[in-house]
Amino acid sequence: MLFGATVRSPIPHARIDTIRWQPEKAPAGAFCLTALDLPGPNGVLLLNDDWPILADNEVRHVGEPVALVAAASRLDARRALAAVEVEYTPLDSVLDLSEADPENPLAVIQLEHGDVERALGASDVVVEGEYRTGHQEHIYIECQAMTAWYEPDGALVVKGSMQCPYYVHKALVHALELPPERVRAEATVVGGGFGGKEDYPSLIALHAALLAKATGRPVRIAYDRHEDIVGTTKRHPSVIRHVTGIDEQGQLMAMDVDLLLDGGSYTTLTPVVLSRAALHAGGVYRCPNVRIRARALRTNTATNGAFRGFGAPEAEFAVERQMDRVARAMGLDPLEIRLRNVLEEGDELPTGQVLDDTTSARLCLEKAAALTDFRRRWSELEEERRQRADGEPMRGLGLSAFFHGAGFTGNGERRMRSPVKVALREDGRIEVFTAMIDMGQGSAVVFPQIACEAGGLTEDDLVFAEPDTARVPDSGPTVASRTTMVIGRVLAEAIAETVELVQAWWRGTKDLEEDLTVAEGAVQSPDGSSWTWREVAASYVKEKGSLEVSRRYEPPAWQQLDEETYQGVAYPTYGWGADVVEVEVDPDTLEVKAQKVTAVCEVGKAIHPTLCAGQIEGGTLQAVSWGLMEEVKMEEGRYLNDRLATYIIPTIGDSPEIEVHLLEQPYEGGPFGAKGVGELPMDGGAPAALAAVENATGIWADEIPATPERLTAWQEAGDVVESIAGEATKRSSSED
Ligand code: MOS
Repeated sequence: MLFGATVRSPIPHARIDTIRWQPEKAPAGAFCLTALDLPGPNGVLLLNDDWPILADNEVRHVGEPVALVAAASRLDARRALAAVEVEYTPLDSVLDLSEADPENPLAVIQLEHGDVERALGASDVVVEGEYRTGHQEHIYIECQAMTAWYEPDGALVVKGSMQCPYYVHKALVHALELPPERVRAEATVVGGGFGGKEDYPSLIALHAALLAKATGRPVRIAYDRHEDIVGTTKRHPSVIRHVTGIDEQGQLMAMDVDLLLDGGSYTTLTPVVLSRAALHAGGVYRCPNVRIRARALRTNTATNGAFRGFGAPEAEFAVERQMDRVARAMGLDPLEIRLRNVLEEGDELPTGQVLDDTTSARLCLEKAAALTDFRRRWSELEEERRQRADGEPMRGLGLSAFFHGAGFTGNGERRMRSPVKVALREDGRIEVFTAMIDMGQGSAVVFPQIACEAGGLTEDDLVFAEPDTARVPDSGPTVASRTTMVIGRVLAEAIAETVELVQAWWRGTKDLEEDLTVAEGAVQSPDGSSWTWREVAASYVKEKGSLEVSRRYEPPAWQQLDEETYQGVAYPTYGWGADVVEVEVDPDTLEVKAQKVTAVCEVGKAIHPTLCAGQIEGGTLQAVSWGLMEEVKMEEGRYLNDRLATYIIPTIGDSPEIEVHLLEQPYEGGPFGAKGVGELPMDGGAPAALAAVENATGIWADEIPATPERLTAWQEAGDVVESIAGEATKRSSSED
């Protein structure tokens, strides 16, 4: 096996003049490959293929792959990088959203419900706010890594850390122009993905495969953390402007949202991220007139792609902070403004979707408020802040309410109709074939639970096939909070059907009149006879040959989104949540320590309550640290903190105590009522953390991360809550 390494652009935007490979300067036997050597189209096929496998003529961000080398060891491969000489002519670069061209977006989504202009004109108070979020790096446990080889029969195999074997498969088939059956993508155990193993594995798989093809040897590429931070996709930075109209009673009359995402240099999955951002931009509030204008702009920065929440955390950060701003303008507390406007059964989303009885925003808010005695403590801390002498400790409490659409957005699941296949083995066990990955979220535990429950089986009656495209059907990617809800349901159906077929056959062979029951891995007849599932199923295979059952996911017929107008039903159901974050802020440095988070989430049905709470704990921590500490620092498009010593994520010492409360309102479309839960907790932590900082310090914080540097600057600029009430336009008085 050879080891691959990647030559990357040090410049955010440049023309490539020459690439010179100087083998005499490289370890013996080293090999180099550039865009000129590609056998097929130079594009990673995701939504489109505009993302180059290797830069050709032009680089558009720092870290963009320009050439590949392979050598006999990892160290030799690294040495060989120095033998590739690239000459660039720098071009003008667009380094952030403020410089980006709004007339040439990567993607645009607009939706309007009601008449926003008129409603803003008729509002008693109008509040404006602007919110910013930055890049976020996934920091999954193992960095991106992939091994590629050709089997003796000529089939290409890639194996590595990935969420979506069929995305990788599709990209390989496209770029190498191979028949689908000549390509295999196999996922290893994945130590964390968070979306970072959703799009990027397609690129590194192509790199390894191209080197394997060119050298005739297996090739492995494994990034170290430094390269992983520089080279891979990030969360999209955002700038989101809100104009909100309210009546005298504090009821929302109009929301006008202008949402910009930094799409980076290539399309990757940005249009879909933008779509989810737009669909969550109004938050969990009832408002008869909503306009959402969402655009993703091009910049010469990282390829921004999938990251847990997929646009919703950015959008909900903005709307939650805006609700706090509205509350300040109206003289209401953060709980009151939310309770007066929160979505309930029968209310409409900006898409026109009428919400059903699994709408739990109020339930979550009330529970979180009760658990933390929110209203009383928040008011006391407001009072304490006003009375406080300099240097006294500053404590605060912040609240957020949030939701997350489960499953693919819009008509995605209908297009996929994801299949699950199960097959009886000779030993009577049922083998389950899905493309789903366990990346720490727990599907390796939850799927067996679902299958056992659906079939009356025990875990010993089941075998789960490794996610290898040669063996499993394309049940879609492990993304979008869809695995338990969507694939778990199809799995339950496939197992139930298999068990039913087998027990009916057994009943026939035994001449039994009455139905048999299957429970705990035993088949029982009412007369008291009993057999193990495995002996019954093994007899079936012996007598009739193997049994294979395939079922596909059918989304509810009423889940249809008009992709032009964005009216209709974007998600069949939503998970709901409310967070209360408690912070202590150092009076001298304005350093924020999150002390405790109370996270209340309504998840439909917690299939495995411990794992479910674990998902919520992890996502909440990731969200709070996105809000308070995580920052990709760039200067002239170059990374300043491309290592774990400087890209700070929380250690156990930085982590707040997180108390999770699970609420259940079963969704009939999910297995046993389960809704998707993976991304939901990412939506609420950041705005609640900043609201807590506001309660503690009086500083109005509208950008994350709320680092001591930023907080100090805002404080010095007089960005404090007292100014907000005065800023709100009182339409009625000005018109009088
Ligand atoms: Mo993805 S961000 O793993 O839906």
